[in-house]
Amino acid sequence: MTILGIESSCDETAAAVYDGKKMLSNIIASQAVHKTFGGIVPELASRAHHKTITGTVEQALNEAGSCIDDIDAVAVTSGPGLMGSLLVGLCFDKGLSLANKKPLIGIDHMDAHMYANFIDEEPDYPFVCLIVSGGHTRLVYVDEPFQHTILGKTRDDAAGEAFDKIGKILGLPYPGGPEIDQCAQKGNPEFYEFPRSMMNKGFEFSFSGLKTSLLYYSKEKGEQFVQEHLYDICASVSEAITDVLIVKLERAVVKTGVKSVLLAGGVSANSMLRKKAEHLSHKLNVKLFIPKMEYCTDNAAMIAITGYMKAQRGEFDDMGLKPYAKLN
Ligand code: KG4
Ligand code: ZN
Repeated sequence: MTILGIESSCDETAAAVYDGKKMLSNIIASQAVHKTFGGIVPELASRAHHKTITGTVEQALNEAGSCIDDIDAVAVTSGPGLMGSLLVGLCFDKGLSLANKKPLIGIDHMDAHMYANFIDEEPDYPFVCLIVSGGHTRLVYVDEPFQHTILGKTRDDAAGEAFDKIGKILGLPYPGGPEIDQCAQKGNPEFYEFPRSMMNKGFEFSFSGLKTSLLYYSKEKGEQFVQEHLYDICASVSEAITDVLIVKLERAVVKTGVKSVLLAGGVSANSMLRKKAEHLSHKLNVKLFIPKMEYCTDNAAMIAITGYMKAQRGEFDDMGLKPYAKLN
């Protein structure tokens, strides 16, 4: 089966083709328009998706050496995400499906981040997955495909959101996550100890306290100090965020006794998190899976592989497929 995947839930218009063995193409059109505003402007995102979606899908088909007749089903993100952005992808995919008589498959964006790990090698079940993106943070236990138990999630900001908000306070360009990562690699993670919330028990996360602490710290120290010590502050912030993520991940692996552990979502591109997760996998003797860099942040390859997995199970949708903004 060959699947065309389309992603438009946030600020990336993406399309990919997967034939069950290989990702034949993976095209991402990022929306630069939001940089000026220091965050995503939903209405501008929908308009940009609308402008680029046809070209992006055409490019994905061309690069895969396919035409629409070679596609067996079309998969699309149905949520969670920005409603206007989701609608553009969904309407486009429904149109493709109707006009070309191809089955339609709705994909949950968070599932897709997780199943991005299946593109190159299939992890064994059961596994624990830490999904850390810009909008959501959750720790799940998965014992069979599409059956997951949520062990914990964030009570306030998502991990990526914390990076982005802190980046903004530090005067870094949007999105702050990759910028802080770059700076942190040149800094001292022990420069300042920012708070780590809810470390001692449970699987829940909270990052808003860290953001507030950084805000007061930077006000107290002043702009010049912050700029002079930017690398050290970024390293200390990254250390605090990744410490919390890794402690919870370790607790989940120990409690469930799984032998496979997965990272997923935009923040899984973070170099410090990847390093700490590798260390954890050696310490607990579990196999670690982290998506390739291009499959960490939003992409359509993850939609295509998840669509493929659903198609294999005979799980298709019809024209009644609806978008949803919030997590299921
Ligand atoms: O999964 P994703 O592309 O979009 C959502 O589904 O939200 O995640 C985007 C998030 C942003 O908050 C971005 O700052 C963060 O992932 N991110 C990173 C890194 N690369 C992307 N955070 C920390 N370090 C990175 N290298
Ligand atoms: Zn995402």
